[in-house]
Formats: sequence, C-alpha cells, structure tokens
Amino acid sequence: MKLIIILFISCTLAACGSLQTQPPLFQQLGGKPGIAKLTDAFIEAIQYNKQTLPYFLESDINRFRTKFIEQICMISGGPCKYTGDSMADVHGGMNINEAHFNALVNDLIMAMEAIELPTSTQNQLLSLLAPMRKDIIYR
Ligand code: HEM
Repeated sequence: MKLIIILFISCTLAACGSLQTQPPLFQQLGGKPGIAKLTDAFIEAIQYNKQTLPYFLESDINRFRTKFIEQICMISGGPCKYTGDSMADVHGGMNINEAHFNALVNDLIMAMEAIELPTSTQNQLLSLLAPMRKDIIYR
C-alpha cells in the first residue's frame, strides 16, 4: 500500500512537472517597458538592414513605434488596445514580397536576441505574428 501511495505521489509530481505553465507572453516580454525595449531594438535592426530600411525612410517612425508597441502588447495578452490601421491597409500598397517579409522578421529576431529573450518566448511571439503574413505580402 505504501509503495502504491509513493508511486501515485511521484507520478502526480512528474505530471505536474511536465505540465508546468509559463507566465503569459506579455509578462515574459517584460510587460510594456520590455516591449518598448524590444521595439527600439527592432527599429535599430531595421535601420541596419539594406532590405528593410528603404521602406521606412519616408515613414513616421514615432507613430510606427507607438503602434507596434500597442500591437505587441495587445496580442501578447497585455492591457492595451491596438489603435493603428489594419495590416492590410498599412502594407497593401508597399509591394512587399516574401523576401522583404522574411527580412523584417529577421530584424525582429535580431532584436529579440539583442535583448536576450529566451528562445521559447521568441517563438511564441513569432507564432502570433505569422498569421499576419497573408495580409502583408503583396499578391
Ligand atoms: C508581421 C509583420 C509585420 C507587423 C506585425 C507590422 C506591424 C506594423 C504596424 C503596427 C505598423 C503601424 C501601423 C499604423 O501606423 O497604423 C506598421 C507600419 C509599417 N510597416 Fe509593418 N509590419 C509588419 C511587416 C512589415 C514589412 C514586411 C514591411 C516592409 C518590409 C513593413 C513596413 C512598414 C512600414 C514602412 C510602415 C510605416 C507606414 C507609414 O508610415 O505609413 N512592415 N507595421
């Protein structure tokens, strides 16, 4: 009987261990200050990338910063409301192709690496952004 109880407790603990939940993505990103830091690193990476910089030369980078922070805050489960335009409206006339899209995602990965976000946090954010691809790439 004692053995059965010990087995039951250890199995329960093992199951708990494997089901351990992570904090919400918003918290993993460091809340709003963390998202602002990520956005600044992202904007820096965009500026150093010959493929993505030309798109942003004529843009209002302060507006982009504010809207991007709002967007990431909202989709990661934070207490924000995105007040920018739809992804299709913003990017529709830009003739963005797969290579440009991948280049910008790469800028974001560089930014996430620069601020040392864990890989699992990076992957969670990327998987939330991936469905936007169809609204951004020109067809
Ligand atoms: C998942 C990918 C992307 C996300 C989440 C995203 C998000 C955003 C957001 C939130 C804005 C601000 C919208 C507003 O002002 O109302 C924006 C603007 C902009 N995005 Fe994207 N974007 C993505 C991909 C791209 C790509 C691939 C390019 C080009 C290579 C690009 C170029 C721009 C530019 C130039 C602006 C500024 C537009 C302006 O000032 O009128 N974006 N994006």
